[in-house]
Amino acid sequence: MRSLIDILDLSTVELDQLLSTACDIMEHPDQYAEKCKGKKLATLFFEPSTRTRLSFEAAMLELGGSVIGFSDADCSSASKGESIADTAKVISCYADIIAMRHPQEGAPFAASLSASIPVINAGDGGHCHPTQTLADLLTIYREKGKLDHLTIGFCGDLKYGRTVHSLIAALSRYRGIRVVLISPEELRLPGYVKHEYMSNMSCVETTSLDDAIGELDILYMTRIQRERFDDIEEYERLKDSYILTADKLARAPQTMCVLHPLPRVNEISVQVDEDSRACYFKQVLNGKYMRMALILKLLSEADGKKEPVATDLEGFVCENPRCITATEQEARQLFRCVNQEKQIYRCVYCEAQIKR
Ligand code: NCD
Repeated sequence: MRSLIDILDLSTVELDQLLSTACDIMEHPDQYAEKCKGKKLATLFFEPSTRTRLSFEAAMLELGGSVIGFSDADCSSASKGESIADTAKVISCYADIIAMRHPQEGAPFAASLSASIPVINAGDGGHCHPTQTLADLLTIYREKGKLDHLTIGFCGDLKYGRTVHSLIAALSRYRGIRVVLISPEELRLPGYVKHEYMSNMSCVETTSLDDAIGELDILYMTRIQRERFDDIEEYERLKDSYILTADKLARAPQTMCVLHPLPRVNEISVQVDEDSRACYFKQVLNGKYMRMALILKLLSEADGKKEPVATDLEGFVCENPRCITATEQEARQLFRCVNQEKQIYRCVYCEAQIKR
């Protein structure tokens, strides 16, 4: 069963297809309004969220599907000690696809091993957040017209910022990427992200946003992730490390785009919202369209991958007069092999054995 746990679960071709489906949905929403009729999305959010959960829900509703789920772990049986594996098995009985956010890293992957429906990682601890990356890629693509040959500055909490980790992984797929990592010493990008994904990128690290801002095509601001700190005093000391003000932005290129996965706390002042370079609210909308494209893709693959239970045995018809195939013209003649060795087939509708 195909899930989306890590952004690199998708090939470059698939990323491009999702981008083009999302653009098509934007232009022709009516054509997609019933694509998921009869399908259910379960949103299992064990950690707070506004955008991600609601954009998944809006995405499914705009595709004509419906949504069940919870937005607080205390409202689920996890609070009684139920395992992720059991939760995934149970939800597989009610829904067609799961979007899961969890404070523990790898929880959505654990769920995907037990679920019989696709699982989408909607953020796992400080690890990764592939669907935010889909929103980021669409925003960069729409604003810049390309995903290669770009200089991208990541600023703020690069240690715990899962959106940064996933976006860097995705950018490893494109050529000519220069990355400028702007963070306090304590919140530098984890070594594994550098080693695994950045070998084909040029990269510099700095603590100064002022020094870097003049050379960027994209500035990706992030929130200092308070909830991931073991030491709250360290958070208090670092929380206002970078604040993008209108004055600071004056030193940036006129064509630079400011992205932020949101929520912002203090790291972008509200005056910046008026600047045409501020793209973070467009990013929110783009996220909904990319999630629509993703839900469509995973559901269609899930349908296509069902074990073939029936075969079309050319020329054979079910001879049971009480079988639905005797009267229902649309019902295709389909048979299931019940004994390979003896080549015994039964009608999938009525179980009658066919004579060959
Ligand atoms: C991000 C997240 O949850 O990682 N938010 C989001 O999904 N848009 C960023 C954050 O919380 O700072």
